[in-house]
Amino acid sequence: MSKKGERELIEIERVSFKYSGSNEYALKDLSLSISRPSITAIVGRNGAGKSTLLRLLNGLIPHFYEGEFRGRVLVDGVDTREVDISDLSRKVGLVFQNPEHMFFSETVWDEVIFGPKALGRNDFEELGEKALRLTGLTDMKDYPPWSLSGGEMKRLSIACILSMETDYIALDEPTVGQDAVSRRELIEILRNLRNMGKGIIVVSHDLEWISDLRPDRIIVIRDGYVFVDGGRDLLADVTILARAGLIPPMSAIIGRAIGVRGFGIDDILKEVLG
Ligand SMILES: Nc1ncnc2c1ncn2[C@@H]1O[C@H](COP(=O)(O)OP(=O)(O)OP(=O)(O)O)[C@@H](O)[C@H]1O
Ligand SMILES: [Mg+2]
Repeated sequence: MSKKGERELIEIERVSFKYSGSNEYALKDLSLSISRPSITAIVGRNGAGKSTLLRLLNGLIPHFYEGEFRGRVLVDGVDTREVDISDLSRKVGLVFQNPEHMFFSETVWDEVIFGPKALGRNDFEELGEKALRLTGLTDMKDYPPWSLSGGEMKRLSIACILSMETDYIALDEPTVGQDAVSRRELIEILRNLRNMGKGIIVVSHDLEWISDLRPDRIIVIRDGYVFVDGGRDLLADVTILARAGLIPPMSAIIGRAIGVRGFGIDDILKEVLG
């Protein structure tokens, strides 16, 4: 894979993909590039193609999913078709929506060091400790993963990706089932990772949370293509969001109604409380 300092971006070039057995293309001539460090939020209606897009990034498509694939995806200059999926797993980590179904170790610690050990990293202990520290799970090292709360499990799933030290981390619907505190913690974790230089790509239906996350960029996917690619102010654009079948976050609507510039509850509170 490429060395540091070369092209630090993911380039999706005119990708179309149709799952075998399906009549419709899930992705249609989609082009997109994502540089790092950054946080990119991907939004869109059910079935728009968001999860399919994430599967492109770490090579699950076309390596694992059968179907018709056209175009190409370059991760830091390397064509995902030309490398093993195990090599790609060093570059792009994917946190699935329900990763807790995939825990299989007896302890949190064994779970978090599994990835770096499989990658042959001699420093797996250091990596495991760092990942647990970043996700606030150090004290739960010896717990069985199944005994964790939903929020802790989500953080463990992120820790398992962090311990592999990938440059990009993609997360599919990380806030599902998370309470307000966990949602905030997730924001802190993701901002930290961006500050460490990583490219974060996050798919979410939770526009309120995305607004608080303050991503560098928001990409609206509609029917398998990029409908809009813009900044955070997109969240207040009722017309564009409606055309993509989305409803703006309530904080943006309230903010506009009371004349507050900004799009998240943080902005509104700052304005109102000083
Ligand atoms: N494994 C699969 N086999 C066949 N078709 C699939 C598969 N996964 C997704 N699709 C189809 O591809 C299209 C895009 O699905 P995708 O899961 O990417 O959407 P999404 O934007 O993630 O939706 P959601 O918000 O519901 O998670 C849909 O029409 C879906 O039915
Ligand atoms: Mg999905």
